[in-house]
Amino acid sequence: SDSMLTDSFGRFHSYLRISVSERCNLRCHYCMPAEGVELTPSSHLLSQEEIIRLAGIFVSSGVTKIRLTGGEPTIRKDLDDICLRLSGLKGIETIAMTSNGVVLAKKLPRLKECGLNALNISLDTLVPAKFEFMTRRKGMERVLESIYAAVDIGFDPVKVNCVVMRGINDDEICDFVELTRDKPINVRFIEFMPFDGNVWNFKKLVPYAEMLDRVKQKYKDIRRLRDHPSDTAKNFQIEGHRGKISFITSMTEHFCAGCTRLRLLADGNFKVCLFGPSEVSLREPIRAGVDDLGLKQIIGAAVKRKKAKHAGMFDIAKTANRPMIHIGG
Ligand code: GTP
Ligand code: 5AD
Ligand code: SF4
Repeated sequence: SDSMLTDSFGRFHSYLRISVSERCNLRCHYCMPAEGVELTPSSHLLSQEEIIRLAGIFVSSGVTKIRLTGGEPTIRKDLDDICLRLSGLKGIETIAMTSNGVVLAKKLPRLKECGLNALNISLDTLVPAKFEFMTRRKGMERVLESIYAAVDIGFDPVKVNCVVMRGINDDEICDFVELTRDKPINVRFIEFMPFDGNVWNFKKLVPYAEMLDRVKQKYKDIRRLRDHPSDTAKNFQIEGHRGKISFITSMTEHFCAGCTRLRLLADGNFKVCLFGPSEVSLREPIRAGVDDLGLKQIIGAAVKRKKAKHAGMFDIAKTANRPMIHIGG
């Protein structure tokens, strides 16, 4: 296909991640350095109009799933309007969000009304003091409340993202598995990935195989589920549990061959791979008055430059990329 969304390896990209804010109410070590990050001047952040215009171009070209990310997306005051307008785009099927859950619970009914229909919440520990260490803020109880509120309001599944780091939270894997016993919760254990400023090292990575072993020691009746080829996660279910557990194995078993994801950052930069350092600005052409066709050419050219796969964890760790807070995962 010669679609702007098909790359030179034949991968069609139907999933756009849009970072709607670079700010966050937590300060997770794996996402940003202790000193914080330089914020983009607000004049360089996409307006609601610009987000909708660009999303419209992607959706009319075949994107069916949009995920709102950050920073923390709930920081953005017009998040509900953004959802509502995205849900009005012809052809869109999924409006998803990844949130840290700290101020989410009371916003959920409105967001759901506005079309949000898939929700992932990040939570890396079930121990309050550890939460405070990992995020440099308080709030673990509020995150749990948001997870349960999301279940109650009907998100099914509610995905819980848990970045596993050796010596920090790797002793809690089985406690997280328990969240899946009676509720439609999908706990996803994520291999720690390197980004600028997050002091990644190989020793802190707990490989997928090791995480799975730990689970199997306690839960003998576990079965692998079939996953969709474009899924980031390898999915499992424990016999008798209502929810599921998964592993996101970007480091030890990358899933680039099935990649369908593109990224629009809060500053309007377009990124075709999480670990590909190259970015192209869509904000500049949009503000220079370039029409939809021109924007499609810029987008299509960037998609065609996408690599087959990321460079491998040690090379990624050495390559300049942006901190996670700017990329949105
Ligand atoms: P679903 O749409 O529910 O499957 O979620 P998702 O996994 O696409 O998105 P989410 O924001 O929940 O991210 C979960 C983890 O997967 C984070 O650590 C992301 O950085 C990682 N991730 C998301 N997309 C990609 C990707 O394209 N490549 C790699 N290597 N990791 C990704
Ligand atoms: N490695 C793996 N996952 C990460 N996330 C943020 N930083 C990292 C990292 N260094 C996760 C967040 C969130 C998702 C968007 O990405 O926990 O759930
Ligand atoms: Fe896609 Fe890049 Fe992630 Fe691989 S590393 S799955 S190519 S975004």
